[in-house]
Amino acid sequence: MNSFRGVFVTGTDTEIGKTLVSAILTKAWNATYWKPLQTGLADEAGDTPTVRTLAELTADRIIAPAYGLQAPLAPLAAANLEGVTINPGRLVLPAVQSPLVVEGAGGLMVPIREDMLMIDLIQQMDLPVVLVARSGLGTINHTLLSLEALRRRGIPILGVVLSGPENSGNARDIERFGNVRILFSVPHLEEINETVVSEISDRVPPFYVCQQQSSQ
Ligand SMILES: Nc1ncnc2c1ncn2[C@@H]1O[C@H](COP(=O)(O)OP(=O)(O)O)[C@@H](O)[C@H]1O
Ligand SMILES: [Mg+2]
Repeated sequence: MNSFRGVFVTGTDTEIGKTLVSAILTKAWNATYWKPLQTGLADEAGDTPTVRTLAELTADRIIAPAYGLQAPLAPLAAANLEGVTINPGRLVLPAVQSPLVVEGAGGLMVPIREDMLMIDLIQQMDLPVVLVARSGLGTINHTLLSLEALRRRGIPILGVVLSGPENSGNARDIERFGNVRILFSVPHLEEINETVVSEISDRVPPFYVCQQQSSQ
């Protein structure tokens, strides 16, 4: 049986719903949340406080980012502006008892160092991926490309989560052509709060079930 220490939540794009889905998964699995690389802190407080509120987490269910960078750019560009070189040695999984929900920044092909993309970090962490994708137009292309990149590197795929107005045709085509499971869908939400996150988290399969069904 597959046995992973958690999941890596990535997306087909930035602003696609990774943080919302991370909050839902952390709540559902009573997990610990970690956003190792946080950028954009000049303009916002980052994803960690958002997830902490949405999933109603106690402090012990949160790991602080390894790097908090100011510019709203990819980690490599944001780090360069501050004269920082991201050290992969600081991006190893922390030892915790509960499953880890690790949120990436942007999508898979986002630079972290001159010699490292986000997808390389996922491989280093040895975590299976939850891929967040939009439900609507454009998602089949972006999702299938992301799945192909993951498979090329032998990264296990736990499944896809679709976010936005329901589109059963896109869901079916992603499952068929991507040979992947849709773990659950998040409808378009008028308001995002703890109650909604809790309700959706009730529909998430248990972590051990998702692990058993993960595919290469
Ligand atoms: N299903 C949804 N319905 C409504 N708004 C959403 C939905 N998913 C995400 N959003 C909104 O879109 C924005 C980006 O979502 P977020 O989870 O922060 O994405 P990411 O972490 O991928 O950048 C946020 O303002 C979030 O509240
Ligand atoms: Mg986010």
